[in-house]
Amino acid sequence: MRPAQFRTSSTVEESKFEMASLKRHVVDGKKRTETITLLQGCLADLIDLALQGKQAHWNVVGPNFRSMHLQLDEIIALARDASDAVAERIVTLGDPAEGRASYVAETTRLDAYPKGLQSVSDTVSLVADRLMKVIAGLREAIDAVGDLDPVSQDLLIAQAGGLEKYLWMVQAQEG
Ligand SMILES: [Fe+2]
Repeated sequence: MRPAQFRTSSTVEESKFEMASLKRHVVDGKKRTETITLLQGCLADLIDLALQGKQAHWNVVGPNFRSMHLQLDEIIALARDASDAVAERIVTLGDPAEGRASYVAETTRLDAYPKGLQSVSDTVSLVADRLMKVIAGLREAIDAVGDLDPVSQDLLIAQAGGLEKYLWMVQAQEG
């Protein structure tokens, strides 16, 4: 049965295939579904951060372009690794990971990245704000998941640590 946290829109593609499921759950019942809901929220944010990072990477202009342009690719790599770790934890817990563009667009907690070319200084602030938002979501999930599944909590803590280091390095460039 499709868990409550997932969209129920039935496209032809979805209805054609029966959903497979895993038999053994390392975390069960309400603890499992609540943990997955928290992980799924973080997954959408992390995928969006990677996408917005590329938007920023392509459209940054001005002095120190090269340094910002390259730093953004480091953040994107980190966000992608983190999204992979979170998605695989969701599937480890027995549910499908939801990483489709339409789902991410609907559920991300990040503000949309502004259109067009952006100066390096605006890019620094925009990226720092988005890193902060992703970290806030991770920290909220870390607090909530502690009593539900300590292994998921440990995984989220690891992702937050890396992103928090980049938040420091990005906002250190703010005037
Ligand atoms: Fe590039």
